[in-house]
Amino acid sequence: MGIPIIIDCDPGVDDALAIILALSHPKVDLKAVCTVTGNGSLENTTKNGLKILSLCGREDIPLYKGSARGLDDKEPDTVPAFGDDGLGGYAHTVQTEKKPEKEGAVEFLVRAANESNGEVTLFATGPCTNVAKAIRIDKELPKKFKRLIVMGGAKYTGNMSPVAEYNFWADPLAAKEVLNAGFHEIVMIGLDVTNKIALGADIREILRIFDTDISRFIYHATREGLIENWETRQKPVAPMHDVLTVAYLIDESILTLKRANIDVVTEGIAKGQSVVDIKGHWSGGKCNALYAADVDVNQFYKLFLTTIFKEHEDEITKYLM
Ligand code: RIB
Ligand code: CA
Repeated sequence: MGIPIIIDCDPGVDDALAIILALSHPKVDLKAVCTVTGNGSLENTTKNGLKILSLCGREDIPLYKGSARGLDDKEPDTVPAFGDDGLGGYAHTVQTEKKPEKEGAVEFLVRAANESNGEVTLFATGPCTNVAKAIRIDKELPKKFKRLIVMGGAKYTGNMSPVAEYNFWADPLAAKEVLNAGFHEIVMIGLDVTNKIALGADIREILRIFDTDISRFIYHATREGLIENWETRQKPVAPMHDVLTVAYLIDESILTLKRANIDVVTEGIAKGQSVVDIKGHWSGGKCNALYAADVDVNQFYKLFLTTIFKEHEDEITKYLM
């Protein structure tokens, strides 16, 4: 039996890749997917989540539709990084009859925490709204999960402002409440490391050679993100942020972590900024999270590719030596 996990996400190409990687590795047991507004409206991220489960042949995994509004009851701005459909213009190629569960994501998270026996790892790869709302219902919820692995924030950079990353920026109050809610362990995997694993032209070409349903999906779905990066930053690489969370679960040695106290700015010019205090400047040595300071990019790609395309393990290993 693999490690039981729940992914709360806003699919999104990189959320989709996190789900695909989770479903491809025997060490991981994906119990459920929850959705939130982010890479498009809630309707869209939910549709995409259902499609990804079908693409992977795992319609048996329940999907719970979550929050369209943030903790402040306003609709958060969505992000168009992966095109209008959130899957790089490729969503229409995947059809599914699968429907979300009747229970909502917030209610599900409260129930799942109670049924977790302290064993389930929770992932948040979209705005933290569902998780924060669940914690407002049950303050003990964080203690009932094994740990939280979150894609969000950054110490040194931003993608919505010079200092703010999208997931924390979209619902900063939710991110703040979740980080300070008392989980046994939080791993914050932010842009400082996820930018380093952006998908380049060489690996995209290799995906074309593999020519499977999944490799074609990754190749085509990542194209919009690559174009956006080229036009805005002159970098011909596609975002892969969220997939690093699941890669870390599979092989923790991929990341260098530092104990830190992390808080989030909720308004003003620095809205959404994660303030990462490693040296105890203002937290007096108190730590609420592990901050991902560095990533072994080669090791990540070896894991990602050999897990999803096992049949090509030899070539991949030689290429990435
Ligand atoms: O800033 C990166 C995050 O924003 C990722 O989770 C991506 O999916 C987008 O929503
Ligand atoms: Ca995401």
